[in-house]
Order: sequence, then structure tokens, then C-alpha cells
Amino acid sequence: MPRTPIICGNWKMHKSPNEAVAFVNELAPRVAGYDSVERVLAPTFLALAAVAVAAHGAPLQVAAQDGHWAPQGAYTSQVSAEMLRPYVNYVIIGHSECRAFLNETDVNVNRKAKAILAAGLRPIIAVGESLEQNQAGETVDFVQSQVKAALAGVSARDMANVVIAYEPIWAIGTGLSASGSMADAIIKSAVRDTIAALYDDAVASSIRIQYGGSVKPGNMEEFMSQPNIDGALVGGASLQVDDFTALIEIAARVKG
Ligand code: 13P
Repeated sequence: MPRTPIICGNWKMHKSPNEAVAFVNELAPRVAGYDSVERVLAPTFLALAAVAVAAHGAPLQVAAQDGHWAPQGAYTSQVSAEMLRPYVNYVIIGHSECRAFLNETDVNVNRKAKAILAAGLRPIIAVGESLEQNQAGETVDFVQSQVKAALAGVSARDMANVVIAYEPIWAIGTGLSASGSMADAIIKSAVRDTIAALYDDAVASSIRIQYGGSVKPGNMEEFMSQPNIDGALVGGASLQVDDFTALIEIAARVKG
């Protein structure tokens, strides 16, 4: 079965609720014709409820940028997967910025993945190596270990709701991006083949894997033309309606 491409704009710490709603209202009619692509926006927690209302009935889905594994409790600053359930379809976890600034660990990414799936939502699990690891030739081993840790105890059935995002840290927000063929090779060997070994070929060939890291309209076609890349997790270029629309149009044209 063909994999439905998924383009997710990760807004990180950008856009107030009013700005976010204005963006959704402008974007929705412009991307309405591209139903072969899943179109997802990940606003801040503060804007999530407003974006969920604005996106209702629009061809847009909503993602949270994190989700805690406990249903509730003494976890200052956190929002649980359970609490996110009425507002979102997807929850991004394991982002390298959370791993770097918030000490996100592989163990907690795994807890979150299981809680998100149990809440009936879909995790987008971000993995990726640092520049030092890349230069030392450790990329495949490291990304494999992140994938294995994130998926420990996740059933083959639940894998239908999992998305993996390969985001080399050195390509995030730097203007540097992996070449399409380099990203495809790592996604194949470190993610898809690892999933085949953990589960089976059917799970591996149906799971969707995004590339992220300085994706923009000018390089989108190169990424979308790769056989193992099923979409993009986009930071900077998701903040402008014109750019984000262009990314969706390219994904629909190349993959749709
Ligand atoms: P940029 O597209 O700004 O490089 O960010 C990528 C990213 O981190 C998406 O999660």
C-alpha cells in the first residue's frame, strides 16, 4: 500500500494564538486541493486549542510539540498525552531541541510514545545525529539505537500509527541540509531496515518516515523524490504561508 505523505510544520516557540489562527485561516483554502498529502501544524501548547478550533473542518491536522506519559500528576510545565487527545492528531516527541535543552532521554521518549498511542494519538518520533557523530561515522549506529529505544514494547499493530522523523541535528535551522540521497540512505539503513528487523517487512514498508532539517521550497523536490522519504518535518519554512503552501504543493506533485 502506498504511504500517504505527511508534511508537518513544527512552529517551535513561534506564533501567538492570534497569529496562529490567522495563519490557519489563510493556509486552509490554499492547501485545500492537496488531499493526497497529510497537512499538519504543530503550534505551541498555548495556541493549540485555538488552532484546533480554527482547523476544524479545514484540511489540516494538528500536532502538539510534546506530550507527557503520565495522565496527570506533579510534573510542573508538562501537558499529558491524555489531555492533548481532544485537540490533536499527532504529538512530536524526541525532538533534538528537547533532547538538548530539556534533557529528553530515550527512555522518556519511549514512555511518551506508548502513552500517546494508548491515548489513540500518533507519535512523530524525531531522531538524528550530531555533527560530531556524523563526522565520526557513527550516524547509522546512533540513529538505530534511538529508533530501537523509542519503539521498545510498541506492538506491530500500533506501528501503523507511528511516524519517524529523521532530523540530523547539524541540518536543523542551519541552512545546511543533507542531500536527498544521503538522507534517503540513512533513513533506509538506520530506520526502515531497523524496523524490518524489529518487526517485519510489512511494518517496515508501511511506516512513514520524514526528513527534517532546513527543508525549504528550493530543496523539497529533491527530498520528496527519494523512495524512502515520505514527507517532511519543517521548522523555519513552515512559518510563512507561501513557503508552507509550496512545500505541500511539491509533496503532492512528486509523491501524491
Ligand atoms: P528547520 O526546518 O528550521 O531546519 O527545523 C527543522 C526542525 O527541527 C523541524 O522539527
